[in-house]
Amino acid sequence: MTVQERIEQLRKELHNHNHNYYVLNQPEISDKAFDDLMRELIDLEEANPELKDDSSPSMRVGSDISKEFEQIAHKYPMLSLGNTYSEGEVNDFYDRTKRSLNEPFDICCELKYDGTSISLTYEHGRLVRAVTRGDGEKGDDVTANVKTIRTIPLVLHGDNYPDSFEIRGEILMPWSVFDELNKEREAREEPLFANPRNAASGTLKQQNSSIVASRKLDAYLYYLLGENLPHDGHYENLQEAAKWGFKISDATRKATNLEEVFQFINFWDTERKNLPVATDGIVLKVNSLRQQKNLGFTAKSPRWAIAYKFQAEQALTRLNTVTFQVGRTGAVTPVANLDPVQLSGTVVKRASLHNADIIESLDLHMGDMVYVEKGGEIIPKITGVDVAARGFMVNDKVRFITNCPECGTKLIRVEGEAAFYCPNESSCPPQIKGRIEHFISRKAMNIDGLGPETVDMFFQKGLISNAADLYQLTVDDMRGLERMGQKSAEKIVKGMAESKNIPFERVLFALGIRFVGETVAKKLAKAIQNIDALEKADIETLVAIDEIGVKIAESIVHYFSDDSNIALIERLKDAGVQLCIKEEESVVVGDKLAGKSIVISGVFAHHSRDEYKSIIEQNGGKNVGSISAKTSFILAGDNMGPAKLEKAHKLGVAIVSEEEFLNLIS
Ligand code: IVH
Repeated sequence: MTVQERIEQLRKELHNHNHNYYVLNQPEISDKAFDDLMRELIDLEEANPELKDDSSPSMRVGSDISKEFEQIAHKYPMLSLGNTYSEGEVNDFYDRTKRSLNEPFDICCELKYDGTSISLTYEHGRLVRAVTRGDGEKGDDVTANVKTIRTIPLVLHGDNYPDSFEIRGEILMPWSVFDELNKEREAREEPLFANPRNAASGTLKQQNSSIVASRKLDAYLYYLLGENLPHDGHYENLQEAAKWGFKISDATRKATNLEEVFQFINFWDTERKNLPVATDGIVLKVNSLRQQKNLGFTAKSPRWAIAYKFQAEQALTRLNTVTFQVGRTGAVTPVANLDPVQLSGTVVKRASLHNADIIESLDLHMGDMVYVEKGGEIIPKITGVDVAARGFMVNDKVRFITNCPECGTKLIRVEGEAAFYCPNESSCPPQIKGRIEHFISRKAMNIDGLGPETVDMFFQKGLISNAADLYQLTVDDMRGLERMGQKSAEKIVKGMAESKNIPFERVLFALGIRFVGETVAKKLAKAIQNIDALEKADIETLVAIDEIGVKIAESIVHYFSDDSNIALIERLKDAGVQLCIKEEESVVVGDKLAGKSIVISGVFAHHSRDEYKSIIEQNGGKNVGSISAKTSFILAGDNMGPAKLEKAHKLGVAIVSEEEFLNLIS
């Protein structure tokens, strides 16, 4: 057998095993045997790069090459569904359809999966593109990431699929994976995902597909689009798609009358709680494609389908106390402490009350029986009060505090904002600690070995009172403190030293100036270049920068009007923190590649891929991840994959060699 034959055989076997394991839940070989086959394939592919194939099962492992996402226009816009919340509205939909069609029709009943939608394009039985919904007209090309999802076939089974078609569905993070992921994030003191939907869409937008591969996403497909689908029935087509290797929900049913539709709704209203993934309703679709065509679309959604949303789950429990928390910006948040109660699979003990206006509008009293609901956020919210349960003894009304619970300073309310603030920025403990915690956080200075608990302890012991103090900490200062051995102390000192390489834009974000988030910090750093210039900038100068409005500008000027902030910056400067843009970050060499979208592919002799990426950007061009008709040219090194080559030829995209490219920009 030739190497090529062996590679092809391995690919075929591994595709089948993947399908058996992930879609059918019926593995035929052990995990070890699977891993061995995969290892053999990866080794052979690495040794024979000319035989590389974008649909190989080895693509599931992901790659750590970062790429920006290319925007792709949807062939058919990705519309949403009209929502209904009551049986009456479902009745209306059914009657409307009956009147319009004036002939018998079936309804395909499906679960409404609560994830992030995806459109997959298959050509000649191979997955060629995966695009997010985006704005409905165009979305992000996330093909590399989607290829890591084991339940999405890269190569189809059977032979009766159309030559070219699109299939849409939902990418989901199963509850078990979501819980595990948040547990890990909590341990690393990273922000938690609010729900599996956000976790799935956040994962799909990862630049690094090997992270996507590790997150174990799943996908259910529910909508086929194309010219030559095998049947007129949507349900029948879905069953066919299951044979091609797609994961189609077992719950899907065809109903011939309204009674069967309601049976489906009522069954899943409770049964959905036992599913491994999140659902938020039912989707009802007229089954015949011919009838769908007759009914057509409104501007936003099809007339042939509707979503019925389940009621959000509620629980009734007692409000015991209200506590007030002070954040790093001084904003005071009221939190309700409740009798523990079971809600959508978790025990709820606390709920957010948001702000004073909400407390007022609920007319909340201590000891009230309150309704809690889980919305999009992690912390549930109080949505109502069972006034009838109050009886004769009505306790005190819940009132918003007038003074800071931490430092006693009188709270202020900024005009036009709902929140109350503690204005004592310089000595209110949670504000001081909050600013330090923000400074060391992952997206800011990313200090290894340091988290909120340690910051709290250092603060209590009087070792630190601002971010600059961290750079003065020695191993001797820390050793011997609670849970702090030599190794942990050394790790912190090392982490602080390493943070001196963090670029200016992230340092600017780390300072925690109000309204200066990651994106604003980037824009500011690029435009203003160094902290001294930023300190001197007036409102007029600042608002002239792209995306900087008056609110942000005022906040920046306010920050630099405080002497303690100026002193902090001087000390950070002395410590060696980057407070200006580094030379190479700001160099713009020329505009020879202005307006060009360039794909980098293959292995190079003179520079690394990353270096070529910077060269392209320094010359005004844009590096994009995958080839499309809009690609200006491909910068091709050795061993460019055959699939890419073929695509480039098909779309008529020019291929430029490394030497030609260097000549071009020289
Ligand atoms: S059909 C033209 N079927 O719900 C309508 N959508 O608001 C095509 N969804 O964007 C969508 N489960 O992300 C359809 N069984 C299902 C679905 C479903 C979840 C999502 C989808 C869509 C949104 C509609």
